[in-house]
Amino acid sequence: MKAILFGATGMVGQGVLRECLIDGEVRSVLAVGRRATGQHHEKLRELVHRDFLDFSAAENELSGFDACFFCLGVSSVGMKEADYRRVTYDFTMAAARALARLNPGMTFVYVSGTGTDSSERGRTMWARVKGKTENDLFRLPFRAAYMFRPGVIVPLHGIKSRTKAVRVAYAAIGPLLPLVRAVFPKYVTTTELLGRAMINAAKHGAPTTLLENADINELGRSRVSP
Ligand SMILES: NC(=O)c1ccc[n+]([C@@H]2O[C@H](COP(=O)([O-])OP(=O)(O)OC[C@H]3O[C@@H](n4cnc5c(N)ncnc54)[C@H](OP(=O)(O)O)[C@@H]3O)[C@@H](O)[C@H]2O)c1
Repeated sequence: MKAILFGATGMVGQGVLRECLIDGEVRSVLAVGRRATGQHHEKLRELVHRDFLDFSAAENELSGFDACFFCLGVSSVGMKEADYRRVTYDFTMAAARALARLNPGMTFVYVSGTGTDSSERGRTMWARVKGKTENDLFRLPFRAAYMFRPGVIVPLHGIKSRTKAVRVAYAAIGPLLPLVRAVFPKYVTTTELLGRAMINAAKHGAPTTLLENADINELGRSRVSP
């Protein structure tokens, strides 16, 4: 499998990248970001891209892929709707439209979050925007599209969030996370399980196209190929 990964420098993306690099069936990964990951591996190539609303200049690099893992995203905390929507919806759809055209056999796996609002009409801004993003991704002509809605994500293997508020929160509750995970397994996942589940969805499909946290954990534990 040849995979393309957006957001590889972030917490979720680092987890997906790690699992891709150790998975024998993932032959190569192209990480697309506004900066390089700084990692070096024989399976990893990097594309540093500036304008996430326009991929026309990068089209030569973006074809020939089987899967896209889209982990680029921002926290909505303190953001105006227009700014949040630009990164969450406009960036995602610009990349996805280009990829769908260039890779008709592609499986697209998108990370949204628990509480995403498929009606697009609820009161919570981030949930509406993520809901519209999911709905419009389903309309693109990919071979398959999966929407992943993780809850709390425990970072493993030294992985850290790019978002300061998230890093501070994890530093504060970090020692309690194993307990939280044991008590609320339905709502907590890890960067490892999430990465494995996304790869499994791309390789084998998933029981549903919209995966909540418990579905992610189940898929992450199944058919694991290290
Ligand atoms: N963390 C959680 O607990 C959690 C839970 C549920 C859902 N999610 C969702 O998972 C996704 C990834 O979250 P995360 O925790 O991995 O976030 P993160 O650690 O903050 O990483 C975000 C990634 O997106 C990239 N990015 C952000 N703004 C960008 C921009 N304007 N232009 C280009 N790239 C940009 C970052 O690149 P740079 O490194 O260049 O900044 C980084 O690669 C998000 O959609 C989030 O809503 C996260």
